[in-house]
Amino acid sequence: MAPRKIIIDTDPGQDDAVAILLALASPEDLEVLGLTAVAGNVPLDLTSKNARIICELAGKVDVPIYEGCDRPLGRDLVTAEHVHGKTGLDGPDLPDPTMALKDGHAVDYIIDTIREQPSGTVTLCPLGPLTNIATALRKAPDIAERIQQIVLMGGAYFEVGNITPTAEFNIYVDPEAADIVFKSGIDIVVLPLDVTHKALVTKPRNDAFRALNTPVGIAVAQMTDFFERFDKEKYGSAGAPLHDPCVTAYLIQPDLFTGRYVNVEIETSSELTRGMTVADWWGVTDRPKNATFIGDLDADGFFALLTDRLARL
Ligand code: RIB
Ligand code: CA
Repeated sequence: MAPRKIIIDTDPGQDDAVAILLALASPEDLEVLGLTAVAGNVPLDLTSKNARIICELAGKVDVPIYEGCDRPLGRDLVTAEHVHGKTGLDGPDLPDPTMALKDGHAVDYIIDTIREQPSGTVTLCPLGPLTNIATALRKAPDIAERIQQIVLMGGAYFEVGNITPTAEFNIYVDPEAADIVFKSGIDIVVLPLDVTHKALVTKPRNDAFRALNTPVGIAVAQMTDFFERFDKEKYGSAGAPLHDPCVTAYLIQPDLFTGRYVNVEIETSSELTRGMTVADWWGVTDRPKNATFIGDLDADGFFALLTDRLARL
């Protein structure tokens, strides 16, 4: 079967970095058409720089990388240096990138690519706030029916929030953008904290990354060593939660994951619950189902896939 064509929309972020590395290490499964950077974990100038650092670390300097939106649709940007460090990629000491960004805005790249590729053959993989995706849908409503699927990291239901008591960071930063995406009618798969908090980089798993003894393996071990602090302190977690790599792993091996097709709506008006993903998991409303909401994974299988693929780079 031909590899699946994807565009990764990203705010690197150590976990974004691992997700991108897994994708770039899996050419038989995924054809990465390009990366689009969005403001999120750190400001846009850093997320677009980090995207290039990651591609150079993987030795894949021909991947087109575009800069997108530098702030949410209608709110001030909220960043997460407290989790990812000042650079957004704290942990390893990686060289500044030499590869250039592509000219043009990421939103136009998304629109043009969806229009140029055969309808239904491109999957969007948002790993950060949904600002670029929502802006593309608003600017070019015709692309909605041409998008094969949106497989995104974001939201939380049983796990509740990580940036507020009720909201996960990606959705919290730009709830209006998320509302547009979840009401688009596009086939959506959601990898929320409910599942990503079960993908923890325990010490044996981190040791396995380091034991690859490659620049990629060592960098991933160093990234997750740094990135685990926030979750260990807040939740007493056994290691860093690999949020974004769940998106890539789902695309490669969906049978590692289980979930339910439900209605998911986004809180945009209440400041108390801004950005909450209200998932009708038990079907208590007549709201139309619009997303596959993933709740569980085979964590050992996930880390076996990830480590095996990272060894290729
Ligand atoms: O809440 C976790 C999500 O927010 C991840 O995508 C992380 O990279 C940040 O973007
Ligand atoms: Ca991210």
